[in-house]
Amino acid sequence: MAFFILNTMKILGIESSCDETAASVYTDSGLLSNVISSQEIHKAFGGVVPELASRAHDDIIADIVAKALERANLTIDDIDAIAVTQGPGLMGALLVGMCFAKGLALQSGKPIIGVNHIDAHMYANFIENKPKFPCVSLVVSGGHTQLTLVEGPFKHTLLGKTRDDAAGEAFDKTGKILGLPYPAGPEMDKIAKEGNPKAFSFPRAMIKDGLDFSFSGLKTAVLYHVRDHAGENLDVYLKENLPDLSASISEAITDVLVKKLERAAIEHKVPDILISGGVSANSMLREKAKKMAKKRGFSLHIPSLAYCTDNAAMIAVTGFMKAQAGLYDDLDMRPFARYAL
Ligand code: KG4
Ligand code: ZN
Repeated sequence: MAFFILNTMKILGIESSCDETAASVYTDSGLLSNVISSQEIHKAFGGVVPELASRAHDDIIADIVAKALERANLTIDDIDAIAVTQGPGLMGALLVGMCFAKGLALQSGKPIIGVNHIDAHMYANFIENKPKFPCVSLVVSGGHTQLTLVEGPFKHTLLGKTRDDAAGEAFDKTGKILGLPYPAGPEMDKIAKEGNPKAFSFPRAMIKDGLDFSFSGLKTAVLYHVRDHAGENLDVYLKENLPDLSASISEAITDVLVKKLERAAIEHKVPDILISGGVSANSMLREKAKKMAKKRGFSLHIPSLAYCTDNAAMIAVTGFMKAQAGLYDDLDMRPFARYAL
């Protein structure tokens, strides 16, 4: 009897661009481990404090990577390449992940692969499924709102982006006006389920024009609405109207997102459409996108909830695809805080 040893590729992914420290191992046979630690320290400040984020990453990154290897039942010697988030993100936070990855690569002699965090959100859709190219991708996160035509692996053309706030920021900033803790998106999602999305009409900026987005007007409209309706009794007004306000705001944001995704997919005649990033965890967005895809006959891909918000599985799978395409980096690669396609 003949035995064949399959030569599998094993990629360690490391993510530290914002306030999650994460590591994961992805191979030909799928995900072997996915470890994540979310920094709680920022809650008291109503947003991520960069200096605190860097320090918290540094405290825990060695443990997180060790756990990811352990849960995959592997050592660094078994790994074929180390993929690490290169940007965009907080510079200090990125440097912690990148310096750790470079040290590990130097010590183990393994190659290193820099991964674009926004691309990685999109490729999170390849962890559990294999969407077909060409496809149209909508990435909606705390810092980015981006529609792209993806003709093949790493062949991306920008179709539209936000001109001001990102979709996640729209949830977080309007949620702050409603008194919700940062980040407000997940909480608003929960509360919106109890409310009437047609209770209040908030603006859907640029819904009829092109493929760019604009969410800053929504934030101002919510601010004026609350000021004009609450008067002296802000707490009482918010208590009584929180579900309807949350549902109406969510409706305004998700209407625009789904409409633009639909328009882009029709214009580019693609059968597959992808949504990803933290906001893709939003239940109203998932429902609306499902309905639209069914009506238009698109094949819709949205990652499972664990792969929507920041994680390292998406870095590992993107690293895997880059390794397959021969896209390796050198130890002199640098992190980047900002990114323009
Ligand atoms: O992708 P992500 O984890 O980090 C960035 O790369 O920015 O996205 C975080 C964003 C935050 O703005 C958060 O409020 C939003 O995703 N978010 C949600 C939900 N879960 C996370 N927004 C709406 N509904 C959700 N269920
Ligand atoms: Zn992200």
